[in-house]
Amino acid sequence: MPNATIKTKTAVKLKGQQLLRDADHNRGSAFTQEQRQAAGLEGLLPPAVDTLDLQIARVHTQLDMLDSDLQRYLFLMDLQSRNQTLFYAILMGDPARFMPLVYTPTVGEACQKFDHVFRASRGLYLPITAKGRLQELLANWPQKDIRFIVVTDGERILGLGDLGVGGMGIPVGKLALYTAVAGVPPDLTLPITLDVGTNNEDLLHDPLYLGLKQPRVRGKAYDDFIAEFVDAVQTRYPKCCLQWEDFANFNAVSILKTYQDKICTYNDDIQGTAGVALAGIYGALRISGQKLTDQRFLFMGAGSAATGIAELISQAMVMEGLTIKEARARNALFDINGLVESSRKDLAEFQKPFALKHKPCTSFVDMINDFKPTGIIGVSTVPKLFNQAVIQAMAAVNERPIVFPYSNPTSRSECTAQEAYQWSDGQAIFASGSPFDPVTFKNKTFIPGQGNNVYIFPAMGMAVLATESTRVTEQMFIVAAKAVAEQVTQEELDAGLIYPPQSQILDASLHTAARVAHYIFDQGLARVKKPKDVELHIRQTAYKPVYDQ
Ligand code: NAI
Repeated sequence: MPNATIKTKTAVKLKGQQLLRDADHNRGSAFTQEQRQAAGLEGLLPPAVDTLDLQIARVHTQLDMLDSDLQRYLFLMDLQSRNQTLFYAILMGDPARFMPLVYTPTVGEACQKFDHVFRASRGLYLPITAKGRLQELLANWPQKDIRFIVVTDGERILGLGDLGVGGMGIPVGKLALYTAVAGVPPDLTLPITLDVGTNNEDLLHDPLYLGLKQPRVRGKAYDDFIAEFVDAVQTRYPKCCLQWEDFANFNAVSILKTYQDKICTYNDDIQGTAGVALAGIYGALRISGQKLTDQRFLFMGAGSAATGIAELISQAMVMEGLTIKEARARNALFDINGLVESSRKDLAEFQKPFALKHKPCTSFVDMINDFKPTGIIGVSTVPKLFNQAVIQAMAAVNERPIVFPYSNPTSRSECTAQEAYQWSDGQAIFASGSPFDPVTFKNKTFIPGQGNNVYIFPAMGMAVLATESTRVTEQMFIVAAKAVAEQVTQEELDAGLIYPPQSQILDASLHTAARVAHYIFDQGLARVKKPKDVELHIRQTAYKPVYDQ
């Protein structure tokens, strides 16, 4: 078994303009006089030699001159194509500020306007017209060792729907976060968009649209294309983990089911979401001092997010001694037609495991009084469903009710932080999908946590990379959730915060990655020998945005 060391950058001997155009090795005005002489750069750069810090200051000045976040996004993407080290030095210097610029919400607008703002190409496009030749197209990617792929087919981009190849902004942005938030070396990553057509009429009629102008391919032809893609990746990059992103629900679920026990793969929309919600619950239990197996959760919404979270909570309860049946009965779902219960005839297969043995019920408040949930989780996409009566009912049956309105964006949140604290008389343990500002209520300032998947997926990527894990299991997400929650300090808990602060996310992710890596080694899933100090190994493997000597 090889040792757990990872070689990244290949040694190159680029010179002159070629070197300045190579984002991996370019350092622009920071090339020293000796380097300029040796690499034929004299005269190609202004004479002054900058430090990385000076370059960072210049980028900040340039960002401040721009008028909109989309412009800042485009500027940062250009920077990424010009000087990778500087790009990551900027991101990693202030992740809380830059995550919303390179990922949500700004990336959503960038995906919508993709065909109109397109400049340099980044990542790999695999159109269904190349079916039978995917191996050949993959071989066009210059890196021979890729460990992490984020792939989309652009059908369900954030909450924005089918954006065709415009969805490429998502794998690109997400992989930037894998690096900025958990140190996954960028040259081991590859963003991919599978172009199977689009059903977005606006795109089909836009002369600037950059994808295939045909309706989406469905059924067997689609499944065969995915199978060929998985095979091609396995053949060229056998150590690679495949992360599926923003596929339509029906494809996302079936792809995950088909491949999760065969290769190293996961779906962040399903599993990362569930992981971060579970992390919030573990954090909340540190405040209430209760056990997971004593909890009951009532979900507002019974879609993919709700069932994914409910299933992971159930698996975590099983790890603590309940049977899966007992555990699922502690997670009740409520949808547009009321309680998901066993007499209903309109339930989808994925909802059936959570059909409660209970009489029909269409009032959420009645269900709170009856089921006595310790927590309510909002994943309905409908704002204001956690109204005053709901929060007061929760406060009446719990000393410290868990209230998680997770629907995004902020305008769809089931309630605001202010409402939750006010209506529960300051007792609610609150976290939301979109961020809320701190709330002062009765002379106490509460800091609402944001259940952002970014606490989980970069760390998972780093753990998988450092161990060369053969699989990504559900239990790994439970381990990650616990690791996130255990890092919240007592002071933060006292202010109601149940996730680590985003300003310290790199440190938090490396810790989480180390915990997951331990688990991978202990389960015999690793393909490398366990290092003596796993956390140290993870920290040493992590990418650092500095110029090589
Ligand atoms: P979905 O469309 O699959 O499910 C929505 C569910 O809400 C359906 O079961 C529907 O019947 C139910 N619903 C709609 N109107 C309702 C009403 N008036 N009363 C009760 N139930 C109602 O959507 P999905 O993918 O499950 O996502 C749901 C929400 O969760 C989205 O807003 C998404 O942004 C959010 N989410 C947040 C995450 C996070 O913060 N980390 C991660 C994933 C999703």
